Amino acid sequence: MSGVAEERYADFYTRQLSSPTLLRIYQDVYGADYPEELRPFGFVTRTDLARFTDLLALPPGALLVDLGCGRGGPGIEVARKAGARLLGLDPLESAVAGARRLAAELGFTEAEFGVGGFTETGLGEAACDAVLSVDALWMVWNKRAAFAEVARVLRPGGRLVLSTWEPPYLDHAGMLEKAGFTVTAREETGRWLERQTEVYRRILLESPALESELGPGAAVLLAEARDTPETLPTTPRIIVAATLN
Ligand SMILES: C[S@@+](CC[C@H](N)C(=O)[O-])C[C@H]1O[C@@H](n2cnc3c(N)ncnc32)[C@H](O)[C@@H]1O
Repeated sequence: MSGVAEERYADFYTRQLSSPTLLRIYQDVYGADYPEELRPFGFVTRTDLARFTDLLALPPGALLVDLGCGRGGPGIEVARKAGARLLGLDPLESAVAGARRLAAELGFTEAEFGVGGFTETGLGEAACDAVLSVDALWMVWNKRAAFAEVARVLRPGGRLVLSTWEPPYLDHAGMLEKAGFTVTAREETGRWLERQTEVYRRILLESPALESELGPGAAVLLAEARDTPETLPTTPRIIVAATLN
């Protein structure tokens, strides 16, 4: 993928794991709620993962598709707990390569990963039992097209569970209802504002160490830490669950 917004994260993906400072920031802010062994790229917590598992209620052997899977950790954890199979898709090759490595390291063999996205899944109609997406939908421009694609690839009665940020001008639940879903949950995640604000404050405070550990990849992180706090209070991090009618 070239010339797309997510391209700016490619270098960051390759180097993120070599930054002890970034890891320490998340450990300090999230404590035991931070699922560090899953190497997330986002703000997912152990509490969120347990909630995704409950809301998805996957039967053993079901096929779960994780859209915007990144390095794959959250989808691997949810699928493994349920005894489900996993297909993770992400537009970035570097994320997909990392996800394959992580699944192998964690010994989870029921997983495949490929290049794809919300509006280009490459899947057939009714091809999967459930869709998960963790902190990725906010990056998608055409959310109507994204929900239409999820409705196409889910089997009737299949569930979608996602976490994202909701600015005042967006109504994810309303859009999902229009796309043929029944929304079963919409909730803010625990202490999202306090925790995310503190992560950004620490990133700016420790920018020299981050720049030396992450190289050019630090720029995107520092820009996010500088620009996001202003709009964050009116942009809650939410979990939404919906069932295809
Ligand atoms: C904040 S990361 C979250 C990754 C992973 N879900 C996690 O929690 O560790 C957001 C991911 O969304 C991906 N992304 C960007 N645009 C996308 C799209 N149109 N469809 C699917 N994923 C997309 C990015 O490449 C990135 O890997």
